[in-house]
Amino acid sequence: MADQHIQVPDGAEAPLPSLRWDELPDGPVLVLLDQTRLPAEEAEFVCGDVPALVRAIQTLAVRGAPLLGIAGAYGVALAAVRGEDVEEAAAALEGARPTAVNLGHGVRRAAGAHRDAVGAGAGAREAAAAALAAAEALHREDAEASARMAGHGLALLEELLPAGDHRILTHCNTGRLVSGGQGTAFAVALAAHRAGRLRTLWVDETRPLLQGARLTAYEADAHGVAYRLLTDNAAGSLFAAGQVDAVLIGADRIAADGSVANKVGSYPLAVLAKYHHVPFIVVAPTTTVDLGTPDGASIEVEQRSGQEVSDMYASQVYNPAFDVTPPELVTAVVTEEGVASPVTMARLAELCARSRQVSMS
Ligand code: MRU
Repeated sequence: MADQHIQVPDGAEAPLPSLRWDELPDGPVLVLLDQTRLPAEEAEFVCGDVPALVRAIQTLAVRGAPLLGIAGAYGVALAAVRGEDVEEAAAALEGARPTAVNLGHGVRRAAGAHRDAVGAGAGAREAAAAALAAAEALHREDAEASARMAGHGLALLEELLPAGDHRILTHCNTGRLVSGGQGTAFAVALAAHRAGRLRTLWVDETRPLLQGARLTAYEADAHGVAYRLLTDNAAGSLFAAGQVDAVLIGADRIAADGSVANKVGSYPLAVLAKYHHVPFIVVAPTTTVDLGTPDGASIEVEQRSGQEVSDMYASQVYNPAFDVTPPELVTAVVTEEGVASPVTMARLAELCARSRQVSMS
């Protein structure tokens, strides 16, 4: 079995995990909540091998930087358990999408655990178990990071906006669907909601694939968060009307100089926020900070099929999936290890070093 869909019965109680490892009679599989079908239907997509997972990544059935890292790590474990060439699988997974640095991070972590086990004389079964343990550890750590980012982010909002009653604008989708926990930017908004400090979550539609309209609205509904959906074009007039107190977004890669790659449409929000003196806050785990990429110009921005846009009318299309916001437009980067504000290379390096110490101890 390579891949198949499972329909989830109506009335299922607990929310489905965005991703889970399962041991079926035919062998282990990675089961994804298929995000291309949300919110119309909650269907699980079963990946029985690495090519199926690569397809799921490329079609955005599984998406969002932290979750891509976790999926990549489990993909390496899947290859190892199936007795396939782990290094080849790792290369295919890492190359599936270029911008989110978490994907390569997760893949390398599981492949490294596998390689170390083989180097230490482990048999195939034991080495596969080491890769799976690495994926599970990353999954757990991402849930913990998510909770810590929510705490740091809420504290930052209290500091910047002591009056509360926040009207927060967000872009793309950054909640439970992209994480082992409650997500990044959405987790902060949810913490504000639970603390009684959120008046409205403004949700950008996020053209062309509508991650805001389809996924963030679905997550906000599930948590009873008061939200309003807007077209991406409407953000300017919303700022001009004084209706935005802060912008909260996630990130796919943060370069060493603090440049932030995130869903296309983030950069114009940063420019608007600067003009209107509104804090522009990026929430991302330290696994999204890439000290090996010096600046924004060095970040590879994924170009996606023109068809995602041309189905409207035209045939010649420019369709970047992300854009890059320079550090001078970013008020703060909130990680699980604390906040960088101002956003400097030294402070980002300090936060990353702290997280490495924690994971090594
Ligand atoms: O193309 P996508 O849907 O994978 O893009 C996702 C985003 O841009 C998110 O904002 C980003 O990964 C941060 S998620 C915590």
